[in-house]
Amino acid sequence: MLEKIKEIEAKIEQDILNIKNSEDLENFRLKYLSRKGIISELYDSIKSISIEERPSIGKKINELKAYCQQVYAEKKKILEEFSEKKSEQIDLSLPGRRKWLGSLHPLTQTLKEIKLIFQRMGFDVADGPEIEEDYYNFEALNFPPEHPARDMQDTFFISDKVLLRTHTSPVQIRVMERTTPPVRVIIPGRVYRNEAISARSYCLFHQVEGLYVDTGVTFSELKGTLVSFAKQFFGSSLKYRFRPSFFPFTEPSAEMDITCFLCDGKGCRVCKQTGWLEILGCGMVDPNVYKYVGYDSEKYTGYAFGMGIERISMLRYGIDDIRILFDNDIRFLKQF
Ligand code: DAH
Repeated sequence: MLEKIKEIEAKIEQDILNIKNSEDLENFRLKYLSRKGIISELYDSIKSISIEERPSIGKKINELKAYCQQVYAEKKKILEEFSEKKSEQIDLSLPGRRKWLGSLHPLTQTLKEIKLIFQRMGFDVADGPEIEEDYYNFEALNFPPEHPARDMQDTFFISDKVLLRTHTSPVQIRVMERTTPPVRVIIPGRVYRNEAISARSYCLFHQVEGLYVDTGVTFSELKGTLVSFAKQFFGSSLKYRFRPSFFPFTEPSAEMDITCFLCDGKGCRVCKQTGWLEILGCGMVDPNVYKYVGYDSEKYTGYAFGMGIERISMLRYGIDDIRILFDNDIRFLKQF
């Protein structure tokens, strides 16, 4: 009899593990705890054993019954809790969760727009390496060996001849090396400068370079293209001017200013009281540059330009600190 009780106890232990839902639980109850269940049968069989043995066997059966009731109750509780949770998960009366939409970074938005404007005017998009050779960043762009821009102060050198590009102009050389004119490209990309970080300058920023080389390209085409760009980007009522300037790789060179749209040319903090905002550098490609790429400077002329995306975005959105563009502060980014 004791043997049998032990066997039943082991069976209960096993069965309890297989209870996965309320149906299993009910079958368990019927099997062990109902009036016709195994434990009732045990009580019935007490009659067939000797009177001396009855009290101890009875006690064992009582213990078995208590154990069985306990595990049954525990399992029941677990199943009930589980089914409550489950119904919570599919509460159809809950309002839907709002999905937050991401937005493009202001620099990406500016860049996309600039690209689109130039693509509509027939420019292709090219790119080049950010880790660049001295040759492309300076030499082939007609920087003389002692030019101050080659100074360690401004350039992150990786080795004697390798550096982080300080502008996107080296890609002009790379594109011309592999293309015969006509060449008409814009080159967006990241550039690096070893400058003290402040509200106005950061150690990295973005530029868009432009290059157009063909037979008979003139300065007035350069002006026409850039004015058209500026009007599309900043608004058609804008006033502009070209000031003479200097870049080693263009001759003649110029910088383009537009009237300050914050004060409409009257003078304010953003335009430093001048009424004008400089937006880009440009010029006719210096014939010396053509020598490096094997173009015939008697046959071809062209223009180039370069602008800073941060500067243009800051002007456009009225941002007064460049660093905020790199902070990834969600409160700032959400506004775009
Ligand atoms: N590379 C110049 C800079 O970083 C910008 C520039 C000026 C690019 C004149 C040009 C250009 O292509 O023609 O300051």
